[in-house]
Amino acid sequence: MYYIGVDLGTSAVKLLLMEGSGRIVNIVSREYPLYFPHPGWSEQEPRDWWTNVVEGIKELTSGCDRSQVAGIGCGGQMHGLVILDENDEVIRPAILWNDGRTQKETDYLNNEIGKDKLVELTANIAFAGFTAPKILWVKNNEPENFKRIRKIMLPKDYLAYKLSGCFCTDVSDASGMLLLDVKNRCWSKEMLDICGISEEQMPKLFESYEVVGTLKKDIAEELGLPETVKIAAGAGDNAAAAVGTGTVGDGRCNISLGTSGTVFISSSHFEKNDNPAIHLFDHADGTYHLMGCMLSAASCNKWWMDEIISTKDYSGEQKGITDEMLGNNHVYFLPYLMGERSPHNNPSARGAFIGMSMDSTRTDMTQAVLEGVAFGLRDSVEVARKLGIRPERTKICGGGAKSPLWKKIIANVMNMKVDVIESEEGPGYGGAILAAVACGEYASVEEAASMLVKVIDTVEPDPAIAARYEEQYRKFVKMYPALKDTYSEI
Ligand code: XUL
Repeated sequence: MYYIGVDLGTSAVKLLLMEGSGRIVNIVSREYPLYFPHPGWSEQEPRDWWTNVVEGIKELTSGCDRSQVAGIGCGGQMHGLVILDENDEVIRPAILWNDGRTQKETDYLNNEIGKDKLVELTANIAFAGFTAPKILWVKNNEPENFKRIRKIMLPKDYLAYKLSGCFCTDVSDASGMLLLDVKNRCWSKEMLDICGISEEQMPKLFESYEVVGTLKKDIAEELGLPETVKIAAGAGDNAAAAVGTGTVGDGRCNISLGTSGTVFISSSHFEKNDNPAIHLFDHADGTYHLMGCMLSAASCNKWWMDEIISTKDYSGEQKGITDEMLGNNHVYFLPYLMGERSPHNNPSARGAFIGMSMDSTRTDMTQAVLEGVAFGLRDSVEVARKLGIRPERTKICGGGAKSPLWKKIIANVMNMKVDVIESEEGPGYGGAILAAVACGEYASVEEAASMLVKVIDTVEPDPAIAARYEEQYRKFVKMYPALKDTYSEI
């Protein structure tokens, strides 16, 4: 049988066709626009996701026996607010995970409702990108739209709704709404009240590996797929990526170098979130995870390459960066191009280069960008270490993971072994695995991940380079506090 994994990303949707054995048969990617209608805002049109998923599935399955497709599982960009009216029409463009417009609502939740209360109800505090502050923003700024809301959903849930007609979500993605009682895996009635919404407006909750329904007749016809194709609840893209990289069970780590950058640590049990600078969410395997999220990761390098030095030759630009140069760069980069989530929780933070002199080169600045992202991710690893969680190794996935140099920098900045896996298609592969579990091909997510995910290489930290980076990281951590007030002013 075949399983389709959908990675509904921020710049593109990636679709992957997997055989039951785990072999990837085909991958298709389709881009769609991202809109920044005001500085710090970030929106997309759900219809762009849908039309590209429909065309993408047709292209993906064009060379295979479509009658053998058994299931579809989506991993999607988290936190985005999608709202539908009584006719199931999208009311306004989706407000995305990296949108920073909700400072006022985030402050209201953290300061007036109070962080302790939020942690008690949801295990997390409010961050500007989370869904609950966005709902409050619509309530405060677009009351006419707020009144029309009949269904509230997350980006990948819009796909499941269009495919199956089932108004549903899964607990990993729902965790990022700040409306879920993460410990008990149910909606928090008190949080819904705080946001002025009711449970009828919320999707039905599922575990990620559960079946929510089958393809609608007309959609099955359009796609040329059997009506029996099962739709798995799917997961937030980070939980899906964790499944796709075998980051399940207890204490395993995955770093994702995509548009966002995340440090994801799986946890078999729920423990109170003692440092809510990082998130405590449900995992797609039925357990929990901790996660730190930086809002701009591989996107910093893309911005530097595409917009500033105008090149498409990413690996060519990295060629001149030797081992001797690692940990010896005088140039630093603060990677806060869209503000920052973990650990600073500051939508006003911005990018900065520091330390240039007349002999600084373009290569030094390229290196600084890669290092700045690694230091930013290290901030989240440090929060976990302070909580007593010290993974010695990590998997890695996302577009940035294609760079051998970036993997080496990550290994040395974190002083952790980086395991490279056969397929770096994190969320797409995870989505397909969830579909395979939902269809009964594997008994559990853990079983599927342990059978399908293969480590093919390990990047070991080099003690000398790691020691140099340790010193540099000590300097890096002083830079954000030094600039914090300036960010507010500019
Ligand atoms: C996680 C987060 C991002 C998006 C990116 O909390 O906001 O990783 O899911 O797609």
